[in-house]
Amino acid sequence: MSALLEVTDVRQEYSVKRGFFGKPATVKALNGITFELAAGRTLAIVGESGSGKSTLARLVTMIEEPTAGSIRLNGADIGAVGSERRRSLRGDVQIVFQNPFGSLNPRQTIRDALEEPLKVNTALSASERREAGRAMMARVGLRPEHDTRYPHMFSGGQRQRIAIARALMLRPKVLVLDEPVSALDVSIRAQVLNLLAELQQEFNLAYLFISHDLSVVRHIADEIMVIYLGSAVETGPAKTIFANPQHPYTRALLSATPVAEPGAKKERIILRGELPSPFDPPKGCAFNPRCPLVFDRCRVETPRLMTAEHREVACFAVEPPPA
Ligand SMILES: Nc1ncnc2c1ncn2[C@@H]1O[C@H](COP(=O)(O)OP(=O)(O)OP(=O)(O)O)[C@@H](O)[C@H]1O
Ligand SMILES: [Mg+2]
Repeated sequence: MSALLEVTDVRQEYSVKRGFFGKPATVKALNGITFELAAGRTLAIVGESGSGKSTLARLVTMIEEPTAGSIRLNGADIGAVGSERRRSLRGDVQIVFQNPFGSLNPRQTIRDALEEPLKVNTALSASERREAGRAMMARVGLRPEHDTRYPHMFSGGQRQRIAIARALMLRPKVLVLDEPVSALDVSIRAQVLNLLAELQQEFNLAYLFISHDLSVVRHIADEIMVIYLGSAVETGPAKTIFANPQHPYTRALLSATPVAEPGAKKERIILRGELPSPFDPPKGCAFNPRCPLVFDRCRVETPRLMTAEHREVACFAVEPPPA
């Protein structure tokens, strides 16, 4: 049985002209990302701003094509299939963004926003579309009789429910959630996360859940991949990583999140400096200029993901397993 979504050594480079007279430079936004995602499961992609999270989202949702590597959906290589098949695969992966104002047309009623994907992609009649739209509104916790309203007439949390409903209209298999609750008040966040968990169960959805904040994914993620400057530095079961993070970057991210039990002792690691420029990444391990455990080797060699402590870590300071 192969996974629903298989991403293999995916790379993405952008050529950017720097300054008016500048020569084009290459940004390596992703340096070889590999993972599998099964139906009904959640993989969280976590990293700072600029680490390549949204780039990955654009590749998986077929908004962009990768520079190298392959993406398979239900066994089909999305870069190799014909346009007809590609179109049908595209319906299988939908995306929800941080800011639903970006994805919802302000001049479109909720009714039209929900029915539009059905109009374009299915043969359903007008009354069937109406029925489906209203049923989905109810399913995401909105009142179907509000379907003639416009996006600005809803609260932030409600708007995100609308964006989720719209993404589900075509019954996708994979939902890419790019910072879906980052713009919401903390009190609303939990409600939307609970809704996502229920919808996942009901529709057996695979979630690729993107967040810059590890604490947001604590309860929803089955697996976690921490990325730094386009490369995975630690990946494995969420429980394992939360209980015992190995990579110094993961530890730093985790130490910045609130502790569950008040009074619990907690190691505090301050991340020094900023994410380096992707135009000129550090030699060796990309994290080395900020790493508290850095030693000579880290400045020359690039660590690769290795199995240690029941997860994969890319770090020379983490003890390799005995051979
Ligand atoms: N179209 C593009 N052209 C040039 N560079 C790009 C393009 N898209 C992304 N990048 C660069 O690729 C890197 C990764 O960007 P990306 O948007 O994927 O990061 P992110 O992790 O989603 O960040 P954030 O948390 O801020 O959303 C950044 O250095 C960014 O400037
Ligand atoms: Mg982003």
